[in-house]
Amino acid sequence: MKGLVLSRSAFLYGGRKMITKPKGCYDLYGKEGRTFKQIDNIVSMLAEVYHYAYIRTPIFEASELFHRGMGESSDVVKKEMYDFEDKGGRKLTLRPEGTAGVVRAYIENKMYGNATQPLKFYYSGTMYRYERPQSGRDRELTQFGLELLGATDPSADAEIISFAYQVYQILGLKNVKVKLNSLGDNESRTLYREKLMAYLKPHMDGFCEDCKTRFSENPLRILDCKVDAKNPVLKDAPKTLDFLNDASKEHFEQVCSYLDILKIPYEIDGTIVRGLDYYNHTVFEFLIEIDGKELAIGAGGRYNGLVSTLGGPETACVGFASGIGRVALAMEENGMDMGEDAIDLYLLYVNEEEKKYAIYLAQELRLAGYKTEMEYLGRSLKAQFRQADRMHAKFLILLNSEELENNEVKVKNNQTKEEELVSLDALIYYLDEKLEDEEEDCCSHHEEEEDV
Ligand code: HAM
Repeated sequence: MKGLVLSRSAFLYGGRKMITKPKGCYDLYGKEGRTFKQIDNIVSMLAEVYHYAYIRTPIFEASELFHRGMGESSDVVKKEMYDFEDKGGRKLTLRPEGTAGVVRAYIENKMYGNATQPLKFYYSGTMYRYERPQSGRDRELTQFGLELLGATDPSADAEIISFAYQVYQILGLKNVKVKLNSLGDNESRTLYREKLMAYLKPHMDGFCEDCKTRFSENPLRILDCKVDAKNPVLKDAPKTLDFLNDASKEHFEQVCSYLDILKIPYEIDGTIVRGLDYYNHTVFEFLIEIDGKELAIGAGGRYNGLVSTLGGPETACVGFASGIGRVALAMEENGMDMGEDAIDLYLLYVNEEEKKYAIYLAQELRLAGYKTEMEYLGRSLKAQFRQADRMHAKFLILLNSEELENNEVKVKNNQTKEEELVSLDALIYYLDEKLEDEEEDCCSHHEEEEDV
């Protein structure tokens, strides 16, 4: 008899076909979920001290926002947009990135009239790009990002780069490369465009069909083409830095000198042009190497023309965004492990009276800041001990009716197995002290390991 072959989506359970997630999307839970949350927590903590305010904009926007903002010639707009019409016939798009939405919000809410310029925002959320899914390239991706609106000064560029660099440092990423370039202002860009076109024109037959279209629409895109990346003609193509006018040169030199003050290592790379059309002056990428290939974990730059393109006043802006999934990949590559999800306390009981007290005590202990679990399934005491072990509980609290009568509970160190009867009045103090000791032991153990 032939073997039965079932595709994943045709898997039957209870007679019903299982529905699978859309291609390029992911379910986030367990260790991966904790890694994402940790990255997000560090980003929001650092954003607060760098004084970036949280902003949340809609996940879908008018399609025109992205077409006008990111540029018709960018790959994202041409090939990767999730465009749809709603029931009212409005043309909408799932956001492929965060910058255009923040700029729309800045203009629509007339934030440019706010007395405290520049305005500094951070965000974190899902974005949607119809790409060919592979490791580090998803259709639903999560980005965190910063946008600083209303400052031309190069210190703003340096601050954005410094933020990104510090996030990666705090997360323990050792091998991040910062690549930096300048496209210059409009005058420099126009001059560069002419020189690039003159250089590429005789060689265009050897480029892909997309690049042939790019040639007249936006020739800078050719430098970023994945298909033609290895074309030897590109190696000797003119570099943007050679065509900067004095003002653009000065801006770039200042960005570099501020990064030197901040001790942020960077590499100037004339090939960085970025995939979106709104950039001018500083552009940068944060790269890590995975399996011999460079992967951008974050990128950004200055976009002084975007606010006016979208109908607002001339406003100088700079920003950056980072794919949390790629940062998580980089952490894995650096051998970082989130470890097990350990809890502080597990409450065990046998009878209904003890259970009632467990319900009350769990709430008190949680409000006192302890990560606390209790028994829900009415298991035997032996099975409860096993469950506490599976949850890596540091301490067990055994509720016993007779001891509760005396206002006491038994607390057991789940590692050393030492037990003590503790008065309920002193329980919080007792746990504070014990858990602090545990943490110190754990830290000194890590230090010893590092010394070795
Ligand atoms: P971007 O270079 O298109 O820039 O994306 C920024 C980062 O998002 C990338 O470096 C990468 O880490 C992540 N990313 C992009 N596409 C994917 C994908 N398909 N799967 C997983 N991760 C991805 C922007 O989005 C600009 N808005 C950045 C910016 C902010 N510029 C100024 N302000």
